[in-house]
Amino acid sequence: MRTIDEQGYHFEEWLTPEAIAKDVQQVADIISADYKEKEPLFVVVLNGAFVFASDLLRALKDVRCEVTFIRVSSYYGMRTTGQLQFIVPLQQVVENRDVVIVEDIVDTGLTIHQLKAHLRGLGASSVKVATMLFKPEKLEYDDAKPDYIGHEISEEFVIGYGLDFDGFERNLDAIYKVKE
Ligand code: IMP
Repeated sequence: MRTIDEQGYHFEEWLTPEAIAKDVQQVADIISADYKEKEPLFVVVLNGAFVFASDLLRALKDVRCEVTFIRVSSYYGMRTTGQLQFIVPLQQVVENRDVVIVEDIVDTGLTIHQLKAHLRGLGASSVKVATMLFKPEKLEYDDAKPDYIGHEISEEFVIGYGLDFDGFERNLDAIYKVKE
């Protein structure tokens, strides 16, 4: 089993590249079926979702779509401000569009809760969420429950495949779980 040591923590490989590819294809097939007759706009949440989004969008079949990027933060240091900060704001008109937010992981759901409200406020016809990972036990906002999920995980901290530890390890090809 592959392992990574980062800042004094020990991580073990949890989802291999092959397992990730299977999860991504499953999500892509469901999205392809749901959006065949539509022209969705995928809104990729930077930085973490860039790896998942790249694989997911290329695995779609017969979906005419657009993709754009956004970078948001609800946190100032360790505290939530309760308000979204747009570090990279939305560049695309979302009015009357079927939007699919692409996230790396949904944890408390605060980011998705606020982003959904923002996109609806801008007139999106529909807003759904696709995420590689979902921590159901940590969810605090009902409306942030993702519509398309690669894999569920309990409360452990994970890195790799876009997910970082203080900005590092996003480029790992697998997802690694921290070991106590
Ligand atoms: P939420 O707003 O609480 O749902 O937080 C979502 C964000 O928290 C994700 O986009 C990640 O940046 C970060 N996050 C949550 N859990 C993890 C983890 O296990 N590893 C790395 N980042 C995480």
